[in-house]
Amino acid sequence: MSFETIIYEAKNNIGYITINRPKALNALNAEVLNELSQAVDIAEKDEAARVVIITGAGGRAFVAGADIAAMQNMTAEEAYSFARLAQIIYNKIQDMPKIVIAAIDGFALGGGCELALACDIRIASAKSKIGIPEVTLGVFPGFAGTQRLPRLVGTGIAKEMLATARKVPADEAKAIGLVNHVVEENPMAKAEELAVEICKNSMSAIALGKRAMNEGMEMELKKGIEHEAALFAVAFTTEDQREGMTAFLEKRPANFQ
Ligand code: HXC
Repeated sequence: MSFETIIYEAKNNIGYITINRPKALNALNAEVLNELSQAVDIAEKDEAARVVIITGAGGRAFVAGADIAAMQNMTAEEAYSFARLAQIIYNKIQDMPKIVIAAIDGFALGGGCELALACDIRIASAKSKIGIPEVTLGVFPGFAGTQRLPRLVGTGIAKEMLATARKVPADEAKAIGLVNHVVEENPMAKAEELAVEICKNSMSAIALGKRAMNEGMEMELKKGIEHEAALFAVAFTTEDQREGMTAFLEKRPANFQ
């Protein structure tokens, strides 16, 4: 399915969302964000997509940030609405009951870094640079970067990235836990390799486990642990639990739904 600035397709159990505005290094304006929102909704419902991969077109950038030209003359109210528009989409990505992988080939800056942060797994090519350079523009990350980045890499590193605006090279991003894997080139191939592994497992169990982690991270530890037990119990209402355990005991591969 093709919009103006986003391409969505599903093949081999993977839903691909491509941000396709390469002349502006896939910068996010309201049109791109609205289409991204629709693509995320489609991917969530699409039974042909068991894993979702988000990437950027053109081979130079994942996303070079929110569109600076579109933001230049915004009022404070418009800036608030723009931030909320993206934040709500990014929350939908975080909450999606499927694993979402960011395949980063080039710049992932500002709103682009924040989009990658909303995904579950990040893969970067060696040439990639990841950062939150907004303070060079007189603003700061407004697509949830001030919240998700410190939760992922810790406050010390996140505050240094905020204040220096430095574009962190891929190898360093891996060392600080900002990306899961760095590949010489073609992060899509690595993302697809992970997707194939993920697809062998129970989708309902992955969804419940992702939810337990997401929701638990917002709770005090012992509440989170209790919440885990409640969601663990839900797994025992699924066909996949019966199939997975029966298959193990019958010494055959599981055939999950
Ligand atoms: C609009 C952008 C853009 C952006 C690149 N372009 N990034 N347009 N918004 N964020 C456009 C350029 O204007 C240019 O268009 C074309 O893409 C190619 O970019 P160049 O700058 O010519 O390429 P290069 O010299 O290789 O430099 C690449 C770059 C640089 C280092 C990534 O483009 C850059 O610094 N971009 C801005 C990065 C940034 O500050 N991002 C954070 C944005 S604020 P033309 O028409 O000239 O060819 C943000 C806030 C989020 O994300 C929260 C908001 C609430």
